[in-house]
Parts: sequence; C-alpha cells; structure tokens
Amino acid sequence: MDIKNVVVVGAGQMGHGIAQMSLLGGYNVTLVDIKEEFLNNGRNKIEEGMKKLESKGQLPNNKTAADFMKNCRTSLDLSLAIKDADLMIEAVIEKMDVKKQVFETAGNHAPDHCILASNTSTMSITEIGENSGRPDKCIGMHFFNPVPLMRLIEVIHSQDSSEESIKIGMDFARSIPCLRGKRYIAEVLKDKPGFICNRVTAPVQIYQNYVFDKCAEEGYSWDQLDNDSRGGPMSMTILADYVGIDVLYHGQMYYAKTLSPDFAPGKVITQLYNEGKLGAKTGQGFRDWSKGRPQVDKSAGKARIYKLKYPIAIMLNEGCRVLEEGITNSWKVIDDTLMAGMNMPGPMAPNVKTYPKQIEVLKELVELTGKKYFEPCELLRSGKWVDMK
Ligand code: CAA
Repeated sequence: MDIKNVVVVGAGQMGHGIAQMSLLGGYNVTLVDIKEEFLNNGRNKIEEGMKKLESKGQLPNNKTAADFMKNCRTSLDLSLAIKDADLMIEAVIEKMDVKKQVFETAGNHAPDHCILASNTSTMSITEIGENSGRPDKCIGMHFFNPVPLMRLIEVIHSQDSSEESIKIGMDFARSIPCLRGKRYIAEVLKDKPGFICNRVTAPVQIYQNYVFDKCAEEGYSWDQLDNDSRGGPMSMTILADYVGIDVLYHGQMYYAKTLSPDFAPGKVITQLYNEGKLGAKTGQGFRDWSKGRPQVDKSAGKARIYKLKYPIAIMLNEGCRVLEEGITNSWKVIDDTLMAGMNMPGPMAPNVKTYPKQIEVLKELVELTGKKYFEPCELLRSGKWVDMK
C-alpha cells in the first residue's frame, strides 16, 4: 500500500515529534488534538524544528521549512481528519479508555484500507483496537523520546494484526528519517506490556522507586543521587523528568496490574504526580526546567544509594523473560533495541559468560528490597538463553 496521508492524534511531545519526522519523510500530515492551544503548540514546535534544520542546510532536496509546513494540517475533529488517511498514529495520554475511544472513532470514519497504529509505550494493542471494527489493521508503532533523535521504532503485533498490516507498518517505520543515524526497526512478536525496550528496563523502575524513596527518607539531594549514576546519556532524575512523571506513573500502575504489584509507583513519584510536577513539560519535576535542561551539580558529592550492578542484573533477568515469553526470539535484538531506543548498551552480550554472577546479584537485591519480582527467571537460571542469538 502506498501511504500518502498520515493522521497523528495528540500534538504533545511524542505526537509533534512523530509528525515532524513524518513530514520530513515526505508524507502529508494532519495533527489532531482536542484544543486549539495544543495544536498551535505542536505546530509551532514542528516549525521551529524545521527552521533549525533549514538554517543548518539539513533539509532534503533543497526544500525550505515552509515547503514541509505546507503539508502539515491541523484539526480538532478526528472523524473528519481521518476521512482520507492511509495511516493513523495515536499518541494521546497513556489511558486505556482514551486510546480505545480514539480507535473507535477512527475505525468508524477512516477508509477501509487505513492502518491504525498506537504509540502506546506499555499497553495492549489488542485491547486498544478492540472497538475499532478492524482489529486486523491495528498495530503498535512505538517511537522513543525525542523522536527526531532516537533511532528506534518498535512495530508491534497485536493478537489480531494481519501480516500485511505489520509489513505496511515496518515499511513506513523504515521510511521515517532520524536526525541521528539510521532507524532501527524492532518487530515485536507478542503484545505484552512494555514490548521490548520498555519491558527490559521497566523493573529498573522498581529499583529506582526504592532508591528515590530511600534518598528522600535519608535526606539526600537529587544532585547527590544523580552523582551516584553518572555515565549514561542522562542522569536518573533528569531522564525521569524528560520521559514525564505522568508517563512513568501511568506506566507503573499498568505494570502493577499486568505484571506484578511490585511495580506500584513509589512515594516520591506519587507525590510529584499528585502535585502536577510532571517534569520537563510542566517546567518542574524532580528538577526545575524553567531555564532549559538542568545540569547536575557534580560538586554535591554522592548519596551512595544507587548501585549500577543492580540495573544490569535486573535488565538481564527481564531480557530473559522477554525471550521466555516469545516477545522476540533473539537476545541480539534486545541489545540493539536498547541501544537504538535509549542510547544504552544492552545487558545480554556482556553477560553470556558472567550470568551466574548476576543470579547472585538478583538474590541479593530480593533481600535488600523485599521485591520478589527480582527473583531470577527460569530461562536465566538454565543458561539456555545464551543460544537464543
Ligand atoms: N528538529 C530539528 N533539530 C533538532 C530537533 C528537532 N525536532 N531536536 C533536536 N534537534 C537538534 C538540536 O538542535 C541539536 O542541534 P545542534 O547539535 O546543531 O545543536 C541536535 O539535534 C542535538 O540535540 P540535543 O543537543 O538536544 O541532543 P543531545 O546531544 O543533548 O542528546 C538525547 C539528547 C539524544 C536526548 C540524549 O540526552 C539521550 O540519549 N538521552 C536519553 C534519551 C532516552 O533514553 N530516551 C528514551 C526515553 S524512554 C521512551 O521514550 C520510551 C517511552 O515509551 C516513554
């Protein structure tokens, strides 16, 4: 199928990033949201990004920002906007009832051939699409934040997606440019919470909640905590704000329902969420973002609460669960997915020989936190995952 017209529902951080990159890929894009103000914000950000590229001479085929913006429409009415769409990508708030409503409306008004994709980061694509009237045409298409710079797109099979819909989704994903290198498209074979990238890192949030709460209880500052974990592309509290406290909160609630109660949001995350301190997008989260991306005060010293050995063991264990559940059948895909989605080396390759040591680390972590979810899974214990390249 030849995709020309793309509808992106939700003009927020993810939605406008998806829209900008789709425009750059040569598609006509209609951005849909529920308030004029949200649409204006999203459109302005897209234009800002396009102008930045124009000023650096990085727009393809000698085109101007205005050339691309001509292909960008906005609408407050999904039922009208979707009438000539070939593909919808939904990027609204992480609430199942809202997403289901979007898919129902889209399914009622879109042309028969139109593929409906959700950018959910955790939720069941099968359930999101169940009232769409076209479950075979519903797929997941999960982008990473910031969409222009993160190479990964996960294309997810629901229980009902047809092979043809997945192929269309994979081809479209490959055609979307990335400002930092070639896109990496991961095919997610099972519709399970968190898919690959977020699932492998999800239980690290159980540990982080333990760490955030302990840090608050013991009176350490976020700078001191971030100094424990220096080395990744973003420190822990800054990444949490960047992803969004609401995204983490809703995600943890969802994992608590679907995977284990151990995922329930901790005290610190719950408090930030209740106070509306949602991170970068609201100007305040763990950190103050009013003057741009915060910097860690390296002179503040360390809290010495966070230990890197735990997230590595946790991700290895979860990677093995992802293999056990058939979400992918290759541990190389897991490592590549993490690198493309989070600029983070995956946990699998480095542990091919050392995994027995990680089993001991996980047992120690169960003792420390009381969280049973950290118990080593069967596939990790058996060592058979090593052959699942
Ligand atoms: N249009 C045009 N140009 C843009 C642009 C846009 N929309 N966005 C960024 N750019 C440009 C910037 O202007 C900048 O240009 P110059 O180099 O000329 O100044 C360039 O791209 C790089 O931008 P930054 O300086 O902001 O990038 P950085 O080097 O500081 O890296 C980062 C930023 C890639 C985000 C890095 O910090 C990182 O890897 N962080 C980790 C992010 C991560 O883990 N994301 C995954 C989150 S989880 C998720 O998304 C899953 C989910 O489901 C919620």
